[in-house]
Amino acid sequence: MIRSKIAGIGMYVPSQVVTNNDLTKYMETSDEWVQERTGIKERRYAHRTNETTTTMAVEAAAVAIERAGITAADIDFIVFATLSPDYYFPGCGVLLQRAMKMKQIGALDIRNQCSGFVYAVSVADQFIKSGMYKNVLVVGAEKHSFGLDFTTRGRNISVIFGDGAGAVVMQPTTDENRGVLSTHLHSDGSEAEILAMFNPGTHANHWKKDAASFNEGEIADMFMSHAMIDNAENFPTMDGPAVFKTAVVKFPEVIMEALTANQYTAADLTLLIPHQANLRIAQFVQQKLKLRDDQVYNNIQKYGNTTAASVPIALCEAWEQGKIKEGDLVCLAAFGSGFTWASALLKW
Ligand code: UT7
Repeated sequence: MIRSKIAGIGMYVPSQVVTNNDLTKYMETSDEWVQERTGIKERRYAHRTNETTTTMAVEAAAVAIERAGITAADIDFIVFATLSPDYYFPGCGVLLQRAMKMKQIGALDIRNQCSGFVYAVSVADQFIKSGMYKNVLVVGAEKHSFGLDFTTRGRNISVIFGDGAGAVVMQPTTDENRGVLSTHLHSDGSEAEILAMFNPGTHANHWKKDAASFNEGEIADMFMSHAMIDNAENFPTMDGPAVFKTAVVKFPEVIMEALTANQYTAADLTLLIPHQANLRIAQFVQQKLKLRDDQVYNNIQKYGNTTAASVPIALCEAWEQGKIKEGDLVCLAAFGSGFTWASALLKW
């Protein structure tokens, strides 16, 4: 039986550290509010012009590739998850292929926001299990700092997000005690507008009648317009408490789904790597599943929420700190905009 395994892992975060106090220069907020509500102390911001989502992905991918003991020329497929791409199109996958001088391999972009990396792992897993590819590069990367509303109007979102990238190389294994055991993907579009960036876009307010959460006064009869910019519609918006409420239900659900599908219980987990959305969400999940502190890895305190990059960055750090060893049972889980949520259970 062929399974996919993580053969190499890497991460990259920009050098610029931005504390909660730094943000008070731009908006009405406080270190106390941000730490109490989210657990975040600081985050990293990419260099405004020298770094992009793709260049950060290149840094993380180079480490993952080296640790897998291969070269960029050996990669035979790219799966790239991001919500902050360099271009509206083409996607970051092809830019990564170009930057790393890879062969003319397939490059797939995934648009599942916070769940993007776990969805990407699932896609790579299917290609490897089917025998189609042997070295799949899976990346999650974000440059949020370029697209946030740094006025008080946008503070509920802008204090949360940070920049960074994580990557893994996935390869086939016939070792019965290793690899991805299963992946579980879900969506519920009924809440699509609760956490969204509407413009620029092609919706022309088509969904407005169905979605109470559209902003009042939104003008969207063009892909992009001066009015949209004047109304700050080019920034993400979120009903934070509504996202929180659903997240604390779906996270435990999708983690238990993965464990049950493989006849495990929460007590069997070596480490849960939850998407780093909010420390309070992770703590709620930990409590609900009765996990010990050493069974859950959190680093949102240092990096904020890096969306598609958060799971691979946390996984990489945990591995580098010796918290994951061969044969350990690890669960990756994520929830976010869409809503989409997902889990992957693996034996390291
Ligand atoms: O990864 C993607 C998925 N996203 C998530 O999982 C996010 C889930 N939601 C959350 O993490 C939380 O809802 C937030 C951290 C976003 C917000 O925390 P909250 O405890 O739900 O606060 P709230 O939105 O209910 O706002 C409470 C108050 C409001 O003021 P009033 O109306 O009570 O006077 C906000 O205006 O806090 C205010 N507020 C802030 N104050 C200082 C909102 N943002 C800030 C801020 N600094 N940055």
